[in-house]
Amino acid sequence: MCGIVGYVGNRSIVKTLLDGLKRLEYRGYDSAGLALLEADKIQVVKTIGKVKNLENRILNEYGEIEIAGPSAGIAHTRWATHGAPSERNAHPHLDSSGRFAIVHNGIIENYLELKSHLQGKGRVFVSETDSEVLAHLIAECYEGDLLSATAAALKKVHGTYGIAVIAVTDPGTIVVARHGSPIVIGVGNGETLIASDVSAIAAYTQRVIYLNDGDLAKITAETIDIRNIENIPVSREIAHIDWNPEAAEKSGYDHFMLKEICEQPEAVANAIRGRMDKGSATAILAGLNMTTREMAQVNRIVIAACGTSLHAGMVAQYFFEELASIPVDVEQAAEFRYRNPIIEPNSLVIPISQSGETADTLAAVREAANKGAIVAALCNVVGSTIARESGRGIYLHAGPEIGVASTKAFTCQVSVLLMMALLFGRNRRLSREDGLKIIDDVNSIPGLISQVLERKEAIEKIAKKYAGAKDFFYIGRGCLYPVALEGALKLKEISYIHAEGYHAAELKHGPIALLEAGVPVVALANNIPGKDKMIGNIQECHARQSPVIATATDGDNEIAGIADDVIWIPECSKFAAVVPTVVALQLLAYYIAKERGCEIDQPRNLAKSVTVE
Ligand code: G6P
Repeated sequence: MCGIVGYVGNRSIVKTLLDGLKRLEYRGYDSAGLALLEADKIQVVKTIGKVKNLENRILNEYGEIEIAGPSAGIAHTRWATHGAPSERNAHPHLDSSGRFAIVHNGIIENYLELKSHLQGKGRVFVSETDSEVLAHLIAECYEGDLLSATAAALKKVHGTYGIAVIAVTDPGTIVVARHGSPIVIGVGNGETLIASDVSAIAAYTQRVIYLNDGDLAKITAETIDIRNIENIPVSREIAHIDWNPEAAEKSGYDHFMLKEICEQPEAVANAIRGRMDKGSATAILAGLNMTTREMAQVNRIVIAACGTSLHAGMVAQYFFEELASIPVDVEQAAEFRYRNPIIEPNSLVIPISQSGETADTLAAVREAANKGAIVAALCNVVGSTIARESGRGIYLHAGPEIGVASTKAFTCQVSVLLMMALLFGRNRRLSREDGLKIIDDVNSIPGLISQVLERKEAIEKIAKKYAGAKDFFYIGRGCLYPVALEGALKLKEISYIHAEGYHAAELKHGPIALLEAGVPVVALANNIPGKDKMIGNIQECHARQSPVIATATDGDNEIAGIADDVIWIPECSKFAAVVPTVVALQLLAYYIAKERGCEIDQPRNLAKSVTVE
């Protein structure tokens, strides 16, 4: 949600912090700030709005970005939870003496209690945030060592945090701590970086240390000292990240979202590469780390996820049930964690998360593991908390996804889940011949996406025609039902048009009351099972004067004859159809939002990864 970055070393501290913040801006963008540790004081600069505003403020105040003098710096980009977006509420926060500064991601649940205790001791609070208590608390606990003070303060805290602390008492030093909100340390030569997300620091170093929950670390340009909350040293491995930092740049596209939509043929090709074996007509998913016997014993699959990842899970339900005959429950991850779900020893729980950091999905992982389930995660971000805590799973290899509205992660999730259903299917009753057909389907996906991308001008034209609508409905059947939900989600996320996805059969049970001229319906009417019924649904919409935009299989004159506008989808199997159809809906949403002049990559109120409940 919020983003943290920190730096100690010989580069320009301000420049490095601003660069890191810009790379993290997709995580939160209602305000930003930085704190610089100088010889006897901490300088703080904050602004509301984008990192660009912060940069301008620094230029106005200091006349340049290359400010010499500070020995360390921390910075933050915020997505408000406690207290409205304002300069006062922006991080970093100082204690009353101005000698300690913190940035914080997460939520301090007992902050009111801590705040009144600290106010009783004469500490003056200036913000409405929960985070500010940390600065006062650390100052209060300080007895000569910043790491010990931070550990002592954190022992009093309930909630989640990823924090970075600087103090005038400790020049050239940053203390970080993690509990429920990620912190990664970048190990450089004569410099050390810290961040909430590797994308902030991947341009500087490929060697990183992921802190575990309960870890604290004291870093200088040359040293990294990691301890647990009891101040006992712990050792953590240095991991190598193979991110190409250019992958996190816009490379000439107007928006990250469009770039990521257009990258999908390659992203899916990466997700499926080397993972299918024609010889035995199955998939090879080594990260699952399950024997054929263990797979055969799975008698139920539970998928837990949020947002777009939840929709991928809903698609997978069709795959697993049809190809592998395994009953599947798909659960909103928050519901899973609080509902006391029934997990049996042979249940396989699949958390799906692009970021691998979504708080509710992570809690579902922990709940499932406690109940003895086998947990195998689908994540995109390598080394993310869900990936690490699940212990087994499949990485998507989609590359960094920066646009807040998820696109390429979804199509990679669907492709990987189809391979997973193939694997479990072949482990049971799916014939070799049918297995080979699914391999062909999976292999066809990158080409199908490319064909849809070639038609983007036609989709843009349709988008322009309907961009003024106030409400949209999306309807689908079978595995295109979750695609209707995803299409509606994309539209509302980035264009702020009210959009709802429904199963087409549900239309008559309420939503049809809202149909009238000016309320377009996007009907997913591809030539796959369910199309005949969809024709009836299109007629129902027409009878209420709603214009219909249909997705239809190339050359389907029947649909062209009854829809107002058609988005053509290349001919393919019903399983493969999910991906090109969703790509068409991503483009439709993108061009509508563009036509409306919306902030596509950073929509209001949204965050790329929701690391608080
Ligand atoms: C946020 C994002 C969505 C994303 C969801 C789940 O709401 O804005 O795009 O689908 O979180 O995120 P995850 O990283 O767990 O897939």
